[in-house]
Amino acid sequence: MPIATPPMSVSPLSVPAPSRVDFGAKIENAVIETMSDDDFALIRDTLYKHQVVVFKNQAGLSPKAQYELTRRFDPSAQGYGHGKTLDAKRSILHPDLKTVPHQPEVQIIGNGFVPEYEGLKNIKLVHPHHKKFHKHAIPDEDDLDYTRFYRWHIDAALYDLNPPKVTTLMAVSVPKGRRQTLRYDDKTGEELDVPLGTTAFVSGYNMYNILSDEDKEFVRTSRIEYAAHPYIWMSGAKSRSDGLGLFSDNLELPESELPPIDASKIQILPMVWKNPVTGQLALQMHPSAIRKIHLANGDVIDDLVNVREIVHRLQRPAISPQYVYAHDWEEGDLVLFNNQGVLHSVVGAFREDEVRLFRQCNMAASEGPLGPDAVVG
Ligand SMILES: [Fe+2]
Repeated sequence: MPIATPPMSVSPLSVPAPSRVDFGAKIENAVIETMSDDDFALIRDTLYKHQVVVFKNQAGLSPKAQYELTRRFDPSAQGYGHGKTLDAKRSILHPDLKTVPHQPEVQIIGNGFVPEYEGLKNIKLVHPHHKKFHKHAIPDEDDLDYTRFYRWHIDAALYDLNPPKVTTLMAVSVPKGRRQTLRYDDKTGEELDVPLGTTAFVSGYNMYNILSDEDKEFVRTSRIEYAAHPYIWMSGAKSRSDGLGLFSDNLELPESELPPIDASKIQILPMVWKNPVTGQLALQMHPSAIRKIHLANGDVIDDLVNVREIVHRLQRPAISPQYVYAHDWEEGDLVLFNNQGVLHSVVGAFREDEVRLFRQCNMAASEGPLGPDAVVG
C-alpha cells in the first residue's frame, strides 16, 4: 500500500510578544520537486500575502529543484540576480559567494571549511562579519556575545539588471546552541536577542505604513537613483552601526576607478513597490547603493550626505526590534522571500570551527518592480 502524502499545510509564523512582526508563514509537507500547478499557486499566494515563507524538512532538496522553484516566480528570468558582476574582484560581494558548478544560479554561502559539496572541493566559507563593513566595530573581546545587522539590503545588482522577484535560502548545515545580543549602537540603546547566524527580515509594507502621511506622499512620488556598479563603488565606504546605509566620508570610488559606465544601465527606480497580489505598497530601497533622489517636480537631490540622511530617516523606524523577524535556522529549512517586499540582513559572528553551509538562489527579474500606480489583480 503506498503511503499517502499528507497535504501541504500553511500556518502563520508565531512570534512572541512584544514582537509586532506581522509577516511570515510556515509551509509543512511540501514536496517541491513534484509540486503541481495548484501547489505552486498556493505557495505563490502564501508568499505574496506573508512575504517570508519557511518550508520545513527540505534537507533532500537538490540545487536544481531550488532553482526551479525560484525560476517559477518569473519564468522569463535569465541568470543569477547579480549576473556575472560577482566576478569583479573589487566587488564587496565577491568573497561571500561561491557558485554551484552544475547550477550557476545557485550560490554557496556560509562559514568554515567544507571538504566537498556539490562538486566544489576544499571550500573555505567566510560568514560576512560586520567589522569588515562597519565604521565602528564591536570590540574583539565581545565579539562572540554581541553582534550587528551586517547590511540591510534587497538582493539586487541595481545596475543593468532588474531586482529579483524572490530569493530562496536553504540551510544545509547549521551550528546550533548559541544566541547573541544584537546591538544597534546608534544612540537609541535598542538591542535584540537573536539566534546565532540568524537572517533578519523587515517588511517593506510596514516600513511604508508607519510613515507620516507627508512622508508617504514623498516616497510614493519620488524615485531613487542607484550608483553605477554600486558594489564596487561602495567598496571603500563604511556602514553605519545599524547596518542601514553608509557613512559619507568620501570613500566611494571615483568614476575613473570603476568599470566603464553605460548611462542607460543606471537604475532609477520607484521608492515604493506594489505587491502583485495584495496591491499593498512597500518602501523598498537598498540603503547602501543609493546615489540620488529624483523628486516629483523633476528636481534631483544629488548631495550624497543629504540623500543618505533622508533615506535613513525614512527607513530607520521599521528596523526597530519589534518589527524584525530573526529566523532561527534549522537544517532543512528552505526560506523563500519576497525580495520586492522585504529587506533582509546577514547577522552574527561565528568561530572558525562553526561550520555553516547555505544555498542561495535568485534570478534577475524579467521586468522592473511594479511602481505605486501599477494596476494589479
Ligand atoms: Fe541577501
